[in-house]
Amino acid sequence: MKIGVPKETFPGERRVGLIPSTLGPLQKAGLEVAIEAGAGTAAGFSDEEYKEKGAKILDRQAIFAESDIIVQVRGPGANPEAGQADVRMLRAGQYLIATLDPLAQTAIMKQLAETKANVFAMELMPRITRAQSMDVLSSMATVAGYLSVLIGATKLPKFFPMFMTAAGTVSPAKVFVLGAGVAGLQAIATSKRLGAVVEAFDVRPAVKEQVQSLGGRFVELDLGTDDSEDAGGYARELTEEQKKMQADLMADHIRAADVVITTAAVPGKKSPVLIQEDVVKGMRPGSVIVDLAAEKGGNCALTVAGETVVKYGVQIVGAVNLPSDLPYHASQMYSKNIQTFLLHLVKEGEITLDMEDEITAGSLVAKDGEVVNPMVLDAMAKESGGGA
Ligand code: NAI
Repeated sequence: MKIGVPKETFPGERRVGLIPSTLGPLQKAGLEVAIEAGAGTAAGFSDEEYKEKGAKILDRQAIFAESDIIVQVRGPGANPEAGQADVRMLRAGQYLIATLDPLAQTAIMKQLAETKANVFAMELMPRITRAQSMDVLSSMATVAGYLSVLIGATKLPKFFPMFMTAAGTVSPAKVFVLGAGVAGLQAIATSKRLGAVVEAFDVRPAVKEQVQSLGGRFVELDLGTDDSEDAGGYARELTEEQKKMQADLMADHIRAADVVITTAAVPGKKSPVLIQEDVVKGMRPGSVIVDLAAEKGGNCALTVAGETVVKYGVQIVGAVNLPSDLPYHASQMYSKNIQTFLLHLVKEGEITLDMEDEITAGSLVAKDGEVVNPMVLDAMAKESGGGA
């Protein structure tokens, strides 16, 4: 089978779906690889490097026409406007493997199904141990968590580490991380490496030990959440009353912080708003909020996605698409996830769809002209008012 990697067309996107060093094992498994000319350039991988690893260099049309498997970072859905041109180029029986924002972009999932291509959304990869090496949300959240701290540190008019100098002593910055999932844990680790004092909170008490093992202090707030985690290890949504209780209990920790990094997310839901305007008002001028949940509405009420706004002297960064700002390693990690997934799907040089397999069935959005994924179908039903 032939894999084709088109150049990303989402505005500003610098990542690429496969990097040269991940091609070898795919070729060994009987797959050929073609790359659209210039696809890896923005991430730091030249056409020559791909050629050296045995890839063909083609134009975009030839990539779509000649490939059995299309690999993208942002497929249609995660690239709603420019991606429309790709929807028109997909054909029956072809495979699409990409991030697709499948639970939010249900109309585009329907369009994709209509092409009769077999469509995989990498975001739907189940968070099980066996699939860890294919989990692009985790690898991209690692990048985002790391960069969120660097953004916070650069915007803060203070040092992060403690200094004892002839010019006096500098006390360390205080960082509060809200949501200690993948991005949050990386933000804690990175803040500690830069010398900050770190506190963190998550509704899942199970993460307390992980926070502590990274040198962070876990803030204990009793929200009465006995069943904070679902079977997939993700957080459940809090009730309105619990959300209010959390906001009140957290306010002091937020006001005491120099940098607040928010990563709270519940899959398939709008991000919970955990920092209201009055709390921002109480923060010290010069403080920074880096809101990683900006794209899904934000954890701070004042966040504007894609912008940095200053309110009451506090800089609020609505961070979007951070992995694209670290394109070399973000592409390396993404590419490794895709390679592992492809090797999982391919048997004797061909993709076989084993619908009994949790990884295959969990991430497959559409096949044979129909949307088949229960989570996507559920999102569609809710949108049309049927299952709300
Ligand atoms: P995750 O699911 O691993 O972590 C989210 C954490 O938030 C979980 O530990 C969950 O328990 C916690 N949480 C949920 N409700 C909460 C609440 N009310 N209070 C405190 N904690 C709560 O997700 P991951 O992969 O770490 O991603 C975090 C966020 O970062 C997501 O919104 C994701 O979309 C976003 N993200 C943003 C990027 C960007 O460039 N801005 C790039 C990658 C991810």
